[in-house]
Amino acid sequence: MKVLFIGDIVGSIGRDAVEKYLPRLKKKYGIDVVIANGENAAAGRGITRGIYDDLLQMGVDIITMGNHTWDNKDIFDFIDDADYLIRPANFSADAPGRGMATVTKNGVTISVINLHGRVFLPPHEDPFAMADQLVAEAKEISPIVFVDFHAEATSEKIALGWHLDGRASVVVGTHTHVQTADNRIYPGGTAYITDVGMTGPYDEILGMKKESVIYKFQTNMPTRFEVPKSGRDVLSGFFIEIDDKTGKAIRQERVLINEDNPFAG
Ligand SMILES: [Fe+2]
Ligand SMILES: [Fe+2]
Repeated sequence: MKVLFIGDIVGSIGRDAVEKYLPRLKKKYGIDVVIANGENAAAGRGITRGIYDDLLQMGVDIITMGNHTWDNKDIFDFIDDADYLIRPANFSADAPGRGMATVTKNGVTISVINLHGRVFLPPHEDPFAMADQLVAEAKEISPIVFVDFHAEATSEKIALGWHLDGRASVVVGTHTHVQTADNRIYPGGTAYITDVGMTGPYDEILGMKKESVIYKFQTNMPTRFEVPKSGRDVLSGFFIEIDDKTGKAIRQERVLINEDNPFAG
């Protein structure tokens, strides 16, 4: 199974970048399944029903979320019916929605699990314990298990990667919006990258208009961060090929497309 993961889609520039590049990426890598993080898809804050539908229409199969899951209140109206939208599994047991989804593409089944870090972020339930439980559940269905760990600290993400080595097919980190260059396959067969990076405005600060972010750092005054509607784009992704029988990763490649790293088809 060949999987493409797209890092945090930010605003309309991010959504347009997916529409523009995804068909070419699917062709280049022969992609079976597309997973994308959509926590910033609605102007940087959460996701709406319309955007969820649009992303599926563009060819995304499963959407993961993160700390911005509840920022757009629209989500409360549709998350329980959205079969292909998951939010971190270690949120409160009272939270609506689910933390794991399973899809079958071209005869092969993959389970996708979303988890949330606890370092420099709100104190959710233990992501390691939740990973143990859900990976075991997923493996009853298929050996192919994908984990999006939405976390701030590099160390926490690397720790979960090693913790799941040989059990998950892939562990990717999201949330920091900057792609890391530590992509590899661990000895047990788990493909790993600390952060996939984001898909959205290329010339701003983590997708937010740079003037407002610089002002915030200079003054420490309350500042409204906004996502620009026009400008150059970046798409950050991670490609993984997984052995259907063993669930182990056999090939991985970072994907980074912007004007400094043009798409090479
Ligand atoms: Fe994000
Ligand atoms: Fe985030």
